[in-house]
Amino acid sequence: MTFTITTPLYYVNDKPHLGSVYTTIICDSIARYKRLLGDKVIFITGVDEHGLKIQRTADEKNVSPQSHCDEISNSFVYNWKKWEISFDKFIRTSSKHHEKIVNEFYEKVKESNDIYMGVQKGWYCVGCEEFKENPNNSPLTVCPIHKKNLEWRDEENLFFRLSKYQNKIEELINTEDFIEPKERKNEIINFVSKGLKDFSISRTNLDWGIRVPDYNSHTFYVWFDALLGYISAISMDESKNKLKDSVVMGWPADIHIIGKDILRFHAIYWPAMLLSAGITPPKKVFGHGFLTREGQKMGKSLGNILDPEILLSKYGNEAVRWYLLKDISLGNDGDFQNKRFVDIINNDLANTIGNLLNRSSSMSRKWFNNKTPFLEENNDPKINDFANKTIDNYMSYFDKYKIDLASNEILNFAIYTNLYLNDTQPWSLIKEEKNIENVKMIIYNVLESCRIIGLLLQPILPNISSKILIQLGQLNVDNKSWRDRLKWGLLPLDYELPIPKPIIDKLEYD
Ligand code: MSP
Repeated sequence: MTFTITTPLYYVNDKPHLGSVYTTIICDSIARYKRLLGDKVIFITGVDEHGLKIQRTADEKNVSPQSHCDEISNSFVYNWKKWEISFDKFIRTSSKHHEKIVNEFYEKVKESNDIYMGVQKGWYCVGCEEFKENPNNSPLTVCPIHKKNLEWRDEENLFFRLSKYQNKIEELINTEDFIEPKERKNEIINFVSKGLKDFSISRTNLDWGIRVPDYNSHTFYVWFDALLGYISAISMDESKNKLKDSVVMGWPADIHIIGKDILRFHAIYWPAMLLSAGITPPKKVFGHGFLTREGQKMGKSLGNILDPEILLSKYGNEAVRWYLLKDISLGNDGDFQNKRFVDIINNDLANTIGNLLNRSSSMSRKWFNNKTPFLEENNDPKINDFANKTIDNYMSYFDKYKIDLASNEILNFAIYTNLYLNDTQPWSLIKEEKNIENVKMIIYNVLESCRIIGLLLQPILPNISSKILIQLGQLNVDNKSWRDRLKWGLLPLDYELPIPKPIIDKLEYD
């Protein structure tokens, strides 16, 4: 089965910040999970390079927009590699292929009689690349998101007949599961119920964009251009990369993961554009919360960015992944706090999971000749049942993109197993020969739990997962699927165990 997942295409006004790292890590873990289940995943990311915001950034640096975009786009690819993001396609909207797709798409929308010339007046936020409307009808002067002055516009633009799609969009957004989370769905339903207005899809006086074929003084509105990046990404490596071909391969996208600020574009404008061109809308749009710092959205224009490169070199990829995936519920905002970050990594990964593996492997090596124990009856139903329940819950949470809850299932299983060790006290039992079979059973069950924990961590913390499995001699041991390897009792008996090493170093407070 094909599974297509996308991050937003990031503006190239600057290199990635923690907000973009956050969205990309979420998509990465879902993509990895789906691959483990055997899906053919198309994980799309990329950059949104046109528009006034980018043109101005390049002007300020005194470089051409293209060379500015080349530099920042390279920095995105470089950073995603450093974060070990397993993307399959990286699309640049300044590429020739993308331009071709935009032109083809425009022709289709024109054929549907959905384009006309009109006059656009209104207050524009260059940061959002969006006209802003005040619910009370008094003009806004400052963008509530970017806290920057809005700019007045009064110009001739081409318009897209969004209003024509009122009924179809209402039907779509009311479909079960199209918009998640539920609170955001209601916001969109409410917005659409007020009546959809046509929106302008071209700009005059802006050079840095794709020229509209029939109107040379117009470039396409950056959002009209950028949303199509999802389609051009899918077809970018194919020889016959026409719009109609891309429709067969991996489209519609299974899920667009985006921030809540750009939900309208994805849940309303984008599906309407696609319907106009005769293309199926995406199956799901998930609007996640913002990563905040001191309660404020993190962003360059707000000047409160946490530099992800510093976090990465100081704490490592997997510590940051665990914090972002396990501590923040996908739909809600999450505040980044340094102390909490350090505490969580030390408690969850170093103390709870790391220690469990370390002490059980050390005991096994010490008492059983550097091996796993050999025993007749290797199953303690208590711990086996707990493992099975953990696996079922984890799968059902992951399937619903509740990665925080899936991660907590792993952690709770590790806590349970640590308690099991503390309760059974094999280090006391071993002192008497008559207890040996019991000790073997306890150690086997704890090591087997570690194997399950290692496997379940695979899409969330791929490196720590490998470290755990290596220490159990269980990395890529056979051709079994991941799902099959999650069956209880597959850890071999009387099997050589390597010398244990910590799976993560403890972090220090600043
Ligand atoms: N270029 C558009 C998207 C076009 S998609 C065809 C854009 N780019 S962006 O770089 O400004 O934002 C990309 C995503 O990052 C958005 O989903 C936005 O919500 C998200 N985030 C930006 N700051 C964020 C946080 N502080 N926290 C979480 N996500 C944040 O919009």
